[in-house]
Amino acid sequence: MIGIFDSGIGGLTVAKQIIKKLPRYQIIYFGDTARVPYGNKSKETIKKYALQDSKFLLKQGAKIIVIACHTVSAVAANSLRRKFPDIPIFDVIRTGLIKASRVTKRNKIGVIGTRATIASAAHENYLKKLDKDLKIYTQACPLIVPFVEENWINRPEALKIIREYLKPLKKQGIDTLVLACTHYPLAKNAIQKIIGKRINIIDPAEEVAKEVDLFLKQHPVIEERLVQRKANKFFVSDAPQQFEELSKKILGKKIKVKQVNID
Ligand code: DGL
Repeated sequence: MIGIFDSGIGGLTVAKQIIKKLPRYQIIYFGDTARVPYGNKSKETIKKYALQDSKFLLKQGAKIIVIACHTVSAVAANSLRRKFPDIPIFDVIRTGLIKASRVTKRNKIGVIGTRATIASAAHENYLKKLDKDLKIYTQACPLIVPFVEENWINRPEALKIIREYLKPLKKQGIDTLVLACTHYPLAKNAIQKIIGKRINIIDPAEEVAKEVDLFLKQHPVIEERLVQRKANKFFVSDAPQQFEELSKKILGKKIKVKQVNID
């Protein structure tokens, strides 16, 4: 199984791309809806939750893990890799940034994410390594996640807040914007309308799916361990019904979601 986890519903935007790109493999998804959001929590807490999420997926039979959460990717990916050295662990930061560095024309890239993601400076550090000439402008947007989780993202209140968040990035003249939170693709239309249609918006989920695909082609021994052609499994730590309703909008079909206690 391909294990995928997030603090909540947002990681389904990554699961969707993986299901699309690699439809024959069974996936197992865990959304930590009892403890979302992770983005306002301390590094120690995020690392602890990420470890519990990963252990749950591995116990269920996951052979590789995709961290479908930028907050965890920024803060805890390396500690997870140290903890599980034999498990391939993919994060959502690297490949999206490579794409951003390729498409930018003016070398001005905006990155929006949760407080923890932006405070970690993971994106700045990586982009600087890719190309010293790139200019990066980051902005924490902590209120977008609850609007997405509540399915309120197109309400005027949400649009007003998004406009405020994007104002400084617009002022800097960015030409590329990285959605460094897996909830944000669900607000992509609103973000595009506000930032302007000429700005490239990068959703790292597609890039991660391509990375996993390539990895499996290059590592047949691991590929063989994945279960094929079996129904995907979805778990949350709270409110499965609300998750089922929202997931229909993201995945385009109804899924069965089970509640589990993982701590
Ligand atoms: N999906 C998470 C991320 O990509 C954001 C939600 C949260 O704060 O937990 O960072």
